Amino acid sequence: MRVVITPEEMYEASLAAARAGRRVGFVPTMGYLHQGHLSLVRAARATSDVVVMSIFVNPLQFGPNEDFARYPRDLARDQALAEQAGVDVLWTPPTEAMYPTPQAVTVDPGPVGAILEGAIRPGHFAGVLTVVLKLFAIVQPRVAVFGRKDAQQAALVRFMVRDFNLAIEIAVAPLVRDVDGLALSSRNVYLDALLRPKALALPRALARGVAAFRAGERKAGSVIAAAWSVLGEVEGVTTEYINVIDPDTFLPSHAATPRSYLAAAIRVGPTRLIDNVILGEGIEGDVRLGGLSE
Ligand code: PAJ
Repeated sequence: MRVVITPEEMYEASLAAARAGRRVGFVPTMGYLHQGHLSLVRAARATSDVVVMSIFVNPLQFGPNEDFARYPRDLARDQALAEQAGVDVLWTPPTEAMYPTPQAVTVDPGPVGAILEGAIRPGHFAGVLTVVLKLFAIVQPRVAVFGRKDAQQAALVRFMVRDFNLAIEIAVAPLVRDVDGLALSSRNVYLDALLRPKALALPRALARGVAAFRAGERKAGSVIAAAWSVLGEVEGVTTEYINVIDPDTFLPSHAATPRSYLAAAIRVGPTRLIDNVILGEGIEGDVRLGGLSE
């Protein structure tokens, strides 16, 4: 595995790969890698000759009161995990190299960027899409892989690629859960032994929504109410939103269909967690570490 630091080195490495007729696959991350990230590497491997991973904690996508400063970082560990997973080029640009001057032009994420995560984190998706566009411009990938864990982010990246005519294929990989059902996230390290069991109410609530759907419920409001009732029972958990989302427009929808997402965000102590499920597939349709199912 080659480690590159500056955008110029990264650009040259990609250009050399393209000149040699090699297809570049790209996995953008903020590091503190877990099996969710590594599953994206395997997905990229399957369709590319060269797999590039970036690790960059992007200040532009964090609000002033969010966890940018304390976001978990461990580059030595990440390097070992990336290499084991089959990354060919690991790119770890410093902040000053990505933003040598204040970003004068940013990407407007439009109406889908203003709802759900975007409503609670103003400016978040402008920051995400701006950095993703910059990363794409430097890596010049043929394919880029994102995780369904951040379903709204993946949808917005797809919309950006479509609307800006970028010649990049976007693949969305399945959501990876821990053995207990919690969606893997770098932020799970914030959860101690007291908070983690409370956090498990989130996948449990989604499973309850799926159960309502399976029992024949087709009104979004009823599926949401079923999920909400689980979260309402747990002390110390605040529900930020639960919505049924149309998979094509990524807008909230009144009708629950097998392809709809049930997406939710909660706060457990100081930590925000997001999760989602595809109604027709259920939690057991997701990848589970250890291969256990409920
Ligand atoms: P980060 O949170 O590090 O996530 C990087 C990629 O890993 C995203 O595509 C995310 O959806 C995926 N991922 C995270 N947890 C996952 C899980 N449990 N299962 C499947 N995929 C998972 O998302 C970002 O970084 C940033 O916003 C970024 C796109 C890099 C732009 O800064």
